[in-house]
Amino acid sequence: MTDISSDIVQSIVAAKRELPGALLPILHDIQHALGYLPGEVVPLIAKQLNLSRAEVHGVITYYHHFRQTPPGSHVVHVCCAEACQANGSEALAAHARERLKDSDLTLEPVYCLGLCSIGPAVQIDETTLHARVTPEKFDALIGALGERS
Ligand code: FES
Repeated sequence: MTDISSDIVQSIVAAKRELPGALLPILHDIQHALGYLPGEVVPLIAKQLNLSRAEVHGVITYYHHFRQTPPGSHVVHVCCAEACQANGSEALAAHARERLKDSDLTLEPVYCLGLCSIGPAVQIDETTLHARVTPEKFDALIGALGERS
């Protein structure tokens, strides 16, 4: 973790450590700021919140949302919740895994994006949502990312 990252983490922890249930908001804010949760944050947070390292690590590994390695150039979420599954998200996720396996994009599952009636749903970089995503539409979305970057 760089000095800048360490400063960011310290300021996030200092700002939120007195909140009830501070651990989750702190983890969310650090991931939002750094893109992931470096291993070095675990002892730092544990000490500041008077928790064991195992407790902090346990929360990080329990929630699929938390990332322990830096993400790729873009993060692609495919919704795997029930309504999207009924609309074919399992096949879409399999297609996405194959399509992205040698790319520098990060593929992650997500459990509902609020587009349940028009799934399968995909979110790219936590900014753009896409509905009724077929494998062909998925490939077009990924191709457009390459043109933008
Ligand atoms: S179940 Fe996929 S968007 Fe809600």
